[in-house]
Amino acid sequence: TTEMSLRPQFLSQYIGQQKVKEELGIYILAARERAESLDHVLLYGPPGLGKTTMAMVIANEMGVQIRTTSGPAIEKPGDLVALLNELEPGDVLFIDEIHRLPRVAEEMLYSAMEDFYVDIMVGQGPTSHPVHFTLPPFTLVGATTRAGMLSAPLRDRFGIISHMEYYETQDLKEIVLRSADIFETEIVEEGAYEIALRSRGTPRIANRLLKRVRDFAQVQSDGIVDRSVADKALSMLQVDHAGLDYVDQKLLRTMIELYQGGPVGLSTIAVNIGEETETVEDMYEPYLIQKGFIKRTSRGRQVTPLGFEHLGYDPISERE
Ligand code: ADE
Repeated sequence: TTEMSLRPQFLSQYIGQQKVKEELGIYILAARERAESLDHVLLYGPPGLGKTTMAMVIANEMGVQIRTTSGPAIEKPGDLVALLNELEPGDVLFIDEIHRLPRVAEEMLYSAMEDFYVDIMVGQGPTSHPVHFTLPPFTLVGATTRAGMLSAPLRDRFGIISHMEYYETQDLKEIVLRSADIFETEIVEEGAYEIALRSRGTPRIANRLLKRVRDFAQVQSDGIVDRSVADKALSMLQVDHAGLDYVDQKLLRTMIELYQGGPVGLSTIAVNIGEETETVEDMYEPYLIQKGFIKRTSRGRQVTPLGFEHLGYDPISERE
């Protein structure tokens, strides 16, 4: 599908994340030269930055198969054993949201990662006994939005820890141009730049906004995505000039109008805007902090003077 081909297949096609690419490129080459499996890789960072894509790129670059699952999808140790059992030497096992892996499954990973075996309890009661399973060498690629949520024993077993950052506007612009090319959408640089500016540093959002702007261009204009069409479409979508979407704006406005800008606790904010605390923490807060619109304090989250100003309020309430 188009959705799939939007994903780059190799490091050379992967735009942005310069540091992650540079490091992984070296480790992949070294492992290939030694004909070994790549060391385990932990990718962490906000949602939509291409962690799954990077896992697929790693497998392609290593010339191996990838098996994909997620923390919440593994309910019992047997689910993990079934996946481990399918691995060929050198394969990548990708576990998304690895911080949500059940404890028993996580503990099984320790020996699997370190020494490529698992001991499985077989039978019930007095006849219950462990059975030793040897695994082929493999590469675990784990993805998480919060490295801090991984237990230390699990985190310590990853030889490579890569932090994915929000994308530079220039890189996002290149991604939008590349995607427009794949969609066979006519676009001018300024149009791509406008979408890039307003995509929260996130390729997944940039690609989604590109599709909506393309629809708008087709129906309301001549089909060409330029700056003016992008601006009109994004305004209609309630994406503001800093890239804040409706929920971001509601979050800031709620903090200002109900709590004078804070400090206010994260879970209180979440309840007020009708989102999960985890969603606020993983998706909304990191971008608002990076933009300098809110900050963390010991007593909760606080809107900064810049945040007040952005929403058109007087920055009255910056109280330390
Ligand atoms: N599409 C989505 N993310 C991408 C990236 N980082 N590089 C190239 N194309 C992409």
